[in-house]
Amino acid sequence: RLQVTEVFRGISMPGQLHTQESLHAATNFQFQDTDVLLVTFPKSGTTWMQQILSLIFNKEDLQNIQSIPTWARVPWIEQIYLSNYLPQVEASKPRLFTTHFPAKLLIHNLKNSKARVVYLARNPKDVLVSYYHFHKLAKFLPEIGSFDDFFDQFLEGKVNFGSWFNHIKEWLGVQQDLNFFLITYEDLSQDPHGAVQSLCNFLDQQLESKELENILHYCSFSFMSQNEQLNYSLIPSEVLDHSMGKFMRKGVTRNWKEYFSPEQNARFNNVYQAEMGDLAVKLPWS
Ligand code: PPS
Repeated sequence: RLQVTEVFRGISMPGQLHTQESLHAATNFQFQDTDVLLVTFPKSGTTWMQQILSLIFNKEDLQNIQSIPTWARVPWIEQIYLSNYLPQVEASKPRLFTTHFPAKLLIHNLKNSKARVVYLARNPKDVLVSYYHFHKLAKFLPEIGSFDDFFDQFLEGKVNFGSWFNHIKEWLGVQQDLNFFLITYEDLSQDPHGAVQSLCNFLDQQLESKELENILHYCSFSFMSQNEQLNYSLIPSEVLDHSMGKFMRKGVTRNWKEYFSPEQNARFNNVYQAEMGDLAVKLPWS
């Protein structure tokens, strides 16, 4: 295992992808008003939304952009690889970026900009299951033991990027200061047409119906999971052990039902209620 963890301002992150230097640089990242920043807690559908954003802004070139991996088209601002991809990103307008950072690490920069922030959320029960499986193949993540062990670690926020609850609450808490749009994995899954349309409204992008159809094809799970620029199968096996499972695992909602015991579900619901009960916004799973 390549188990180095970087801890930055109380948040742990994989050392394979981050250094103190790259993390510090990200907190000072200079956003432009035209930028689009995708914000997610890990395993919330980041890759899916990276693909969708990139398709929306490259609708004349849908075929060709598939030859560039999603992480190069919409790179993470906090990862060490950002500088490799910046020339490519700078060449396109708008610039598209991703982050898993909690709000407190970016808000001081972002609130002074008109950059568009797309917050993609997913049912945390499904995030937990997806994250559990990802730990089995990702050699840069710690050994986690059994599903039951991981369940406890997730609920306690003792996983990389910390507490799911804090992540979403902190970002929703600063949305008034931002050019902010909330969208969910469940919206995309249940009504891809409607979800991509409302995203386009936020992004001020008009799509012809044929363009929308094409985008929905290129961002479908069946297309993405077969394409090696999109499905992470090109990542060397020392980093992602493909014999342990696939990055593009299932791509469905409510898979948690196959993993949670009734006791775990009750415990999860209690924590959810205590953490999220006061939230004004209605989320599709609650
Ligand atoms: S990461 O490592 O944080 O970037 O992972 P992330 O991309 O956020 O999440 C991976 C999960 O998203 C699923 N996925 C999709 N679902 C539906 N449609 C499409 N096109 C799609 N692309 C990725 C992927 O399968 C992971 O979820 P699980 O539940 O593990 O299948």
